[in-house]
Amino acid sequence: MKRRDFLIASLVAPGAFLLKGCGGGGGINMVSSSGISVPTKFIKQLLIPSEINPEIINNKKTFDLDIRPGQHTFFDGMLTDTYCADVTGGNNQYLAPTLRMRNGDDVQINYTNNLGEETTMHGHGMHVPADMDGGPHQKIAAGDTWKAIYTVKQKSCTNWYHPHLMGATAQHIYKGLAGLIIIEDSESDTLNLPKTYGVDDIPLIIQDRVFDGSGQLDYSPSTMEIMHGYKGDMFMINGVITPFVSVEAKQIRFRILNASNSRIYNFVLDTGKTFTQIATDNAFLENGVSLTSLRLSPSERAEIVVDFTSNADQSFILKDLDSGAELMKINVDKPLVTTITTMPSVLTALTKFSYDSNTPTRSFVLDGAGSGLLQINGTSMDMTVIDERVPLNQVEVWEVKNNMPMAHNFHIHATHFWVIERDGSSANVPSNEQGYKDVVRIDGDKSLKFVVKMVDYADSVNPYMFHCHILEHEDAGMMGQFIVEQV
Ligand code: C2O
Ligand code: CU
Ligand code: CU
Repeated sequence: MKRRDFLIASLVAPGAFLLKGCGGGGGINMVSSSGISVPTKFIKQLLIPSEINPEIINNKKTFDLDIRPGQHTFFDGMLTDTYCADVTGGNNQYLAPTLRMRNGDDVQINYTNNLGEETTMHGHGMHVPADMDGGPHQKIAAGDTWKAIYTVKQKSCTNWYHPHLMGATAQHIYKGLAGLIIIEDSESDTLNLPKTYGVDDIPLIIQDRVFDGSGQLDYSPSTMEIMHGYKGDMFMINGVITPFVSVEAKQIRFRILNASNSRIYNFVLDTGKTFTQIATDNAFLENGVSLTSLRLSPSERAEIVVDFTSNADQSFILKDLDSGAELMKINVDKPLVTTITTMPSVLTALTKFSYDSNTPTRSFVLDGAGSGLLQINGTSMDMTVIDERVPLNQVEVWEVKNNMPMAHNFHIHATHFWVIERDGSSANVPSNEQGYKDVVRIDGDKSLKFVVKMVDYADSVNPYMFHCHILEHEDAGMMGQFIVEQV
């Protein structure tokens, strides 16, 4: 809680921010740490980010995005200043639209920055050339348009795009800049899975936020909060605080993105209902993995299928087991309109790079011990320093050690990896992590190893990033740069 929030809370009686419609039903309204009334749970419907229809220009699927300030209604009768993206003239006010692409597509995304300050736009999980990555070096000045032009060369998955401006990534994402990129391919075409966007194939962009007493997003981490990660006490999905969603009594697919700055969730359905994880960050799993809880650290994605076939007229609460927070109510009350699906026994075949004791190993140590600095291998991110040079087409083992008692995660740009060991043993890698990943959690004082191979794109000038995806840590310097070298 911040000092000024105390002030606001003490000057204004709880409930004073209740405007018409808020807290319907006359129930007692909870007040958050900042003094703003917590909206009554599960009365607002989940919004679905709109999907952009690309134009085909010179054989390229062309997406035009206007990145600009917006004003979104999180609290009835109140406007919150945000950053958002939409097609020109669109009325989206928070987050960014969903971009759908196919493996093999030639794509051009025109990002026009109307924020009035510089930013960047990174395709998280996208296997693209380094100069098309949208990392800290591909700055988009206020008023400029930056074009990400590439051919999609990867399997069906759920990626996302977000700003990556050195030192300001957290703030820009906090204000709302995050959108999904859905990739499809001939495999996803043929799999008998729910595919109707927003109906039985539902994106869930999950975030926690701090609002100040006047309903504005409050990104002001203290030194301690930078160290531990900035966590909010308001939970929202697709920009709606604790929404409900209506679904049909059949198999429903959720594409979950943890788009929170630092919170690690342990998702459960409150009845203990099982669900099947079908995809990790960058591809389908080979076979669905049955789970009752799902842990996702910032930026990790999971696609899950929940079978509501025998649950007509029942409700389920999606909860975070760690904080106890109730995030969304799922009402199985919608008339059947989409196709009934059955879980395929095999989803895909994944290439596991072979490696042995002679495979070159690269080591990364995440640390902040003593110094109070958040670093990798004892150094902080420096835009002018290339930390690693990785040969193209060479299988490598990367070992990441977390030397701090708190959990971090580790993300690499450029391509996916395959986790082979946790704490020295392959037996510690859960089945739902045995797939293509680009970001992975490493608990306090633990380590992991993954195999990775850089393919397709070498560039002696433009680097890719590796970093902790706790955004406070990333902005504080827990990040480094690598070049993929032609050898
Ligand atoms: Cu989600 Cu370096 O990024
Ligand atoms: Cu990334
Ligand atoms: Cu971290």
